[in-house]
Amino acid sequence: MEGRQTPGSLGDSYARIFESVKLRKRDLIFPIFVYEPGNDPFFQKNEIPGFAKMDLKDLTPQVQRIIDLGITSVIVFGVPRKRDIGASSALGKHGVVQVTARKLKEEFGGSLNVITDVCICQYNLSGHCGLETRARKDDRAQIENDRTLSLLSKIAVSHAESGADVVAPSSMMDGQVRQIRSSLDSRGFRKTKIMAYSAKHASSLYSPFRMTAYSKHIHNHTTIDKSSYQIGYTNPRQVIREIEADISEGADMVMVKPTLFYLDIISMIRDCTDFPLVVQNVSGEYAMIKSAATRGWIDEEEWKVNSISAMKRAGADLIISYFSMDITRYLDH
Ligand code: PBG
Ligand code: ZN
Repeated sequence: MEGRQTPGSLGDSYARIFESVKLRKRDLIFPIFVYEPGNDPFFQKNEIPGFAKMDLKDLTPQVQRIIDLGITSVIVFGVPRKRDIGASSALGKHGVVQVTARKLKEEFGGSLNVITDVCICQYNLSGHCGLETRARKDDRAQIENDRTLSLLSKIAVSHAESGADVVAPSSMMDGQVRQIRSSLDSRGFRKTKIMAYSAKHASSLYSPFRMTAYSKHIHNHTTIDKSSYQIGYTNPRQVIREIEADISEGADMVMVKPTLFYLDIISMIRDCTDFPLVVQNVSGEYAMIKSAATRGWIDEEEWKVNSISAMKRAGADLIISYFSMDITRYLDH
């Protein structure tokens, strides 16, 4: 373990910080972006360094490297070649996430927990997480919650059919967990778990994700306002209601994101429930540390370690982070 060779070195003190919050490798989830062949080159130019972007064809060796570090779970975000109004490429067994899940389960079986992102914003024309409707041509588009639910459950079922162990609905539509649970159960997927994005705050901290995962039809992802369905930061009680709703709808795990500016929310949830709590350390949080460290303004290792340990200390059980692979060097198990 290169970070831990000399006693008293920084590597050792980072290892002790993680020990003090009881972080283990199996608490870490690594996000991967899988591109369908033939993607738009525009986005290759705007990429964020250090994200795990993979082609279907070299998926196996890339994921093997993640597993070799002791990480046992990945969350798969698909980047399809085509978008259309009804997000049709999110469905069906040839979809990029479905193919990925099948490949990963064939290759790694029970040694890898495959979590799949269930949403439509990478697949439709608007970049919104719900289907849209306009009553008249000039009206502002409205998100159609209930029509989106049936699409989301079909997507979740197709992920389960492809072998996903856990489906992770991230669209923040009301009732998504209940509808997905009942569709999975009625199709015989009682064992497929649901990781519910319960408290997903509307945030520009998702920008680097959108720059990576959104393809050609969306030229300015910063104008997509998701605040009508993602939550605002002014109302912590709404967070509790969202968490309670998802638990009662049948979620197996609940989630909060982003993390660093919501540590109080994480600890508040930890205080009121024993339910498995996942946090997602999002792309903008990663980018802030990375970009400042690249300029020599802060120390990257120090802030990776301190931020991830703060999430655990606040009460997270599982952590999704772009730093997951990096920090395994400070963990013995
Ligand atoms: C989309 C989705 C987003 C993220 C995960 N799923 C972006 C958004 O809601 O606009 C953000 C993840 C990250 O920033 O790392 N359903
Ligand atoms: Zn979405």
